[in-house]
Amino acid sequence: MTHQGTKTIITERLTLRKFSPDDALAMYETWAKDPRVTKYLTWPPYKSPEGCRKILEEWEKSYEQDDYYQWCMEYEGRPIGAISAVRLQERDEWAELGYCMGHDFWGKGLMTEAAEAVIDFFFSQVGVHRVCIEHAVRNPASGRVAEKCGMRHEGVKRESFKASWGEFLDISFWGILREEWEAKTKQDFSQK
Ligand SMILES: CC(C)(COP(=O)(O)OP(=O)(O)OC[C@H]1O[C@@H](n2cnc3c(N)ncnc32)[C@H](O)[C@@H]1OP(=O)(O)O)[C@@H](O)C(=O)NCCC(=O)NCCS
Repeated sequence: MTHQGTKTIITERLTLRKFSPDDALAMYETWAKDPRVTKYLTWPPYKSPEGCRKILEEWEKSYEQDDYYQWCMEYEGRPIGAISAVRLQERDEWAELGYCMGHDFWGKGLMTEAAEAVIDFFFSQVGVHRVCIEHAVRNPASGRVAEKCGMRHEGVKRESFKASWGEFLDISFWGILREEWEAKTKQDFSQK
């Protein structure tokens, strides 16, 4: 793997860029305070923009590492969500993605657009062998994003996630391998 850091990526409708502490208010108002967004995530809703600013300051420091990948999704000039590598397995050359976005922006294909671009980035620039995601079975929209990005369903781990309300939830696993990404890229290109 050849790390690149969080480089700006431009897609048809989005700019994926580094966060800055100045994004705190938008992050808080648009997605981080909303329990509908965090329901199946590992973190609870933020209680204030100051909380967001603190984490953004940490992310700003982390950007100094070239193996840190955390993008702000900017749409029509404003931050609407985040997509990141939540895990990098150096030895086995894979990246696991995580993503979340403001409720007002769901259902427009925006996360699929962001995830496809980030997957392309990891294969073409970082040189990974595999990109994957995992999500609660009860949160099928996330799996649908993975599927639309060309990932395959790899299985379900039973009750491996403890939700904020204490229930243990089944988790679905999805992944795409380098050879599958190459075939998809060729096919997408020939259809253009
Ligand atoms: C999951 C999430 C990222 C999806 O983003 P999005 O931009 O709305 O996704 P897209 O529009 O690209 O695609 C969503 C797909 O899921 C489908 N979908 C939505 N709700 C669904 C449901 N309850 N059951 C099945 N499919 C569903 C949509 O119809 C769409 O598929 P389609 O294009 O075939 O119609 C967004 O809902 C989100 O931020 N949720 C909160 C955070 C989260 O759960 N993150 C993932 C944690 S693993």
